[in-house]
Amino acid sequence: MALAEPSHCVPRGFLRCITCGAHPGALANDALCPSCGDLLEWIWDDGFWHARTPAQWQALWRARRTSNAPLDRSGVWRFREMLPLLADTEQPVTLQEGNTPLYPLPRYGAAIGVGNLFAKHQGANPTGSFKDTGMTAAVSAARAAGARWLACASTGNTSASMAAYAARAGLGCLVLVPEGKISWGKLAQALDYGALTCQLRTDFDGCVRILKEVIARFPAATVNSINPNRIEGQKTVAVEIAEAFDWQAPDHVVVPGGNLANASALGKGFLEMRPWGLIARVPRISIIQAQGANPLVRCWRNGGEQMVPVVADTLASAIRIGNPASWNKAVRVLHETGGECLDVTEAEIAEAKATLGREGVACEPASATTLAGAAKLARLGRIRSSESVVLILTGHGLKDPDITLALHRGQLPFPIDPPLRRAPLVLEPQADAVLHLLDAEVN
Ligand code: F0G
Repeated sequence: MALAEPSHCVPRGFLRCITCGAHPGALANDALCPSCGDLLEWIWDDGFWHARTPAQWQALWRARRTSNAPLDRSGVWRFREMLPLLADTEQPVTLQEGNTPLYPLPRYGAAIGVGNLFAKHQGANPTGSFKDTGMTAAVSAARAAGARWLACASTGNTSASMAAYAARAGLGCLVLVPEGKISWGKLAQALDYGALTCQLRTDFDGCVRILKEVIARFPAATVNSINPNRIEGQKTVAVEIAEAFDWQAPDHVVVPGGNLANASALGKGFLEMRPWGLIARVPRISIIQAQGANPLVRCWRNGGEQMVPVVADTLASAIRIGNPASWNKAVRVLHETGGECLDVTEAEIAEAKATLGREGVACEPASATTLAGAAKLARLGRIRSSESVVLILTGHGLKDPDITLALHRGQLPFPIDPPLRRAPLVLEPQADAVLHLLDAEVN
């Protein structure tokens, strides 16, 4: 018997502070706990899930993949019962995000001794990064709450995504980015989408500080990843992965770590699905940072109790973050899933990026940390050859072409394994010149 469509988006949870346990009734513009200033998260009323069996929920969500209804075409709002954000009467702001591809990587998996290696490419989202899955949720909720302006500090992808969703929603938006420290592609996106874009002469962590001061004096809703509604949207990647594995979660999921919200969201998604019977077990979630921006790795090595900020420096500009806001949520995910936390060098990141390219899967440097991290975990014996491993690729390959060109032209400040490099060749316009090269290539 067909079941009626559940009333969607009715608030079925409440906001709670991760530190003092306060329950604010609404999200303030700074998105923080009004009592102690720490992060908030959505807590579920589990009773809701007993209205249907796990198989009925799974069938409902799968059926929406073939629906033409605008809401169903979003890979986030397809799972709208998991997002306790909007009342029935409110329509989300969507660009049909989510439903991203999951690519098998058998050749490279075999090379590093991982039997079943996959890449979940979140760079295939509308603005080219995973941020869109969280942004549709945060912008929809902010508009429903009456916001006229949105604001963020960013290493580039959040600002591109916020600007696009603000434009769709008809809201004003303020972008603060560190001058000279984000890729041109990401900066250009914010301009195209019409954001008021400020390049501040500081780093990302400095932009976060200024944003807090601005928000205290100007009524804009913060949509940085400290906003708990972002986490709700971003957690749907876990549901997509579980669905793609026919609701048997993979053994291991590997994610890059910057401000550390994405790792928290991924963990929240998997950890919520288990008690509801949607999956039987949770994968280990491992977080990989760049060696030059590794405050979580240092914190984890020292027991995970305290995070000491660092001055961050890495070619992976998206994760050039020294004082990550969501570090304690990420530590919780590492503890609860038995994940690993390690860092990789600049050369490992660049070579992993080129290696993925050779599989037909281009991504930005921050995303390639996952492949470098998985290879390191396999070398250390922390991933066994029988395991299924999913890498979360967070950004599109065209996000940062400067780094890609520098890599292939041999202009990075460290050597790259020569077979991975493909420098562009400048020739006289003669067929012979081209044929000569082809000769050398095939013989
Ligand atoms: N990968 C990419 C491509 C990113 O843009 C980011 C973060 C991350 C990984 C790390 O995710 O912060 O949730 O741990 N970019 C943010 C931004 C900070 O402003 O675009 P995280």
